[in-house]
Amino acid sequence: MKKLLIILLGLMLLCGCVFAEEAAEEDPDAVTSATLKINRLPEVNAEENGILVVYFSPDDTTRAAAYCIAAGLSAELFEIEAEEPYTAEDLDYYNRFSRSMTESYNKDARPAIAALPGDLSKYDTILIGYPLWGGMAPKILLTFMESVDLSGKTVVPFCTSNSSAFGSSDKDLKKRAGDSVTWKKGTRIKKGATAEEIIGLAEQILNPEE
Ligand SMILES: Cc1cc2nc3c(=O)[nH]c(=O)nc-3n(C[C@H](O)[C@H](O)[C@H](O)COP(=O)(O)O)c2cc1C
Repeated sequence: MKKLLIILLGLMLLCGCVFAEEAAEEDPDAVTSATLKINRLPEVNAEENGILVVYFSPDDTTRAAAYCIAAGLSAELFEIEAEEPYTAEDLDYYNRFSRSMTESYNKDARPAIAALPGDLSKYDTILIGYPLWGGMAPKILLTFMESVDLSGKTVVPFCTSNSSAFGSSDKDLKKRAGDSVTWKKGTRIKKGATAEEIIGLAEQILNPEE
């Protein structure tokens, strides 16, 4: 009898694990963020309010932040995806010869973008989010800046990082924006932030104290 109970318990545990794994696989909004306390992307009810959140996030953290900001502002989202996606090996910053490290320290690197956003004329304000790589925006953001026309728009940068501050990580992007762009002060999303906190800060990120 005891043996039967143990076998039954074992089977129940096994089924539980299989179902949990299937549920995780089925959730398209699940994210694994290294530094934020977010496991699931919030729902974004985008309105036609002229605000677009553009983000690059090869490892999910900036994506989570971008979704929360977009949710807080009812903004649309656009992801900058690399033509050649970054693998875990590419993102190994302990290896100075990894793709991300090599690109970071090559001022001429311009990784190709899979697809550019279509018509940007309906947006007055563009938030641009990226992970810090060596204290700077990844070079693919320069590819983006050199491929789109942001004349007359307001641009608001934000970043995620393990520990570094926002600093002057946007200086190379700003240089490429052109004089007609109003470039706002950038924000670093702080480590350990929850979805609710970032959603609540969205207006402040959009209108930072200069
Ligand atoms: C090549 C590389 C360089 C990095 N450099 C820094 C850095 O200078 N400072 C820092 O705090 N984090 C650094 N990080 C960590 C990322 O900024 C951080 O994990 C970020 O939230 C990842 O965003 P993602 O998940 O959207 O890719 C680096 C990561 C990589 C891959």
